[in-house]
Amino acid sequence: MSHRSVAIDGPAGAGKSTLARKLAQKLGFLYVDTGAIYRTVALAVLRAGADPADEAQVVPLLDGLEIKMAYDTDGVQRMYLAGEDVSQAIREHRISGAASKASAIPAVRAFLLDFQRRQAREHDVVMDGRDIGTVVLPDAEVKIFLTAAPEARARRRLLELEQRGQEADFETILQDIRNRDWQDEHRALSPLKRAADAALLDTTDLNLEQSCERLLSLVKEKIAL
Ligand code: DC
Repeated sequence: MSHRSVAIDGPAGAGKSTLARKLAQKLGFLYVDTGAIYRTVALAVLRAGADPADEAQVVPLLDGLEIKMAYDTDGVQRMYLAGEDVSQAIREHRISGAASKASAIPAVRAFLLDFQRRQAREHDVVMDGRDIGTVVLPDAEVKIFLTAAPEARARRRLLELEQRGQEADFETILQDIRNRDWQDEHRALSPLKRAADAALLDTTDLNLEQSCERLLSLVKEKIAL
């Protein structure tokens, strides 16, 4: 039996993971956060003392990588590196930049392509990332490109950090977001871009609830709910 899939792509901080998770719950599909997989590779690279931007250092590490993905009873995706649960560790700030760098290496993308496609072969999925609608699942039933102005994304990130009691500075966050956008949009292979057949959802002026409603109505145009 073939499985159903929804592809959600967009830049960092547009709300992809929150919205994709909610959508997956609604549809009864598995939510696959592909950024977490890239982050796990980046963590392995940093732990090996290698430079995530250096292809010659990263490629030899791929063969020995033991990455697993599993779901806990609440349906939360967890990542394992050589048997260790690294779901928290991959959320550290230094991993974001490292993942963006390592993800520009063609061998890293090739290594993860199969891993991601296998999930979609085995389950109904809502998958989010940067190249899901363009490369990983070009035949996805629904494709959404989720975006927001960099300033709006930086404001949300600032709020999130403040709520966690962490100190942060708006300008630094905004600059980080712009850098990562640039890196993700300008790499030669599978750059972040909207698939020709993806619906655009700009959440700059929408709150979470409104974004969720818009997303659902876009999905309902393609999938009976
Ligand atoms: O979505 P995220 O911030 O967790 O992703 C971390 C990095 O991984 C992101 O900067 C680019 C890369 N990535 C990618 O290249 N392709 C994907 N499908 C998902 C993430």
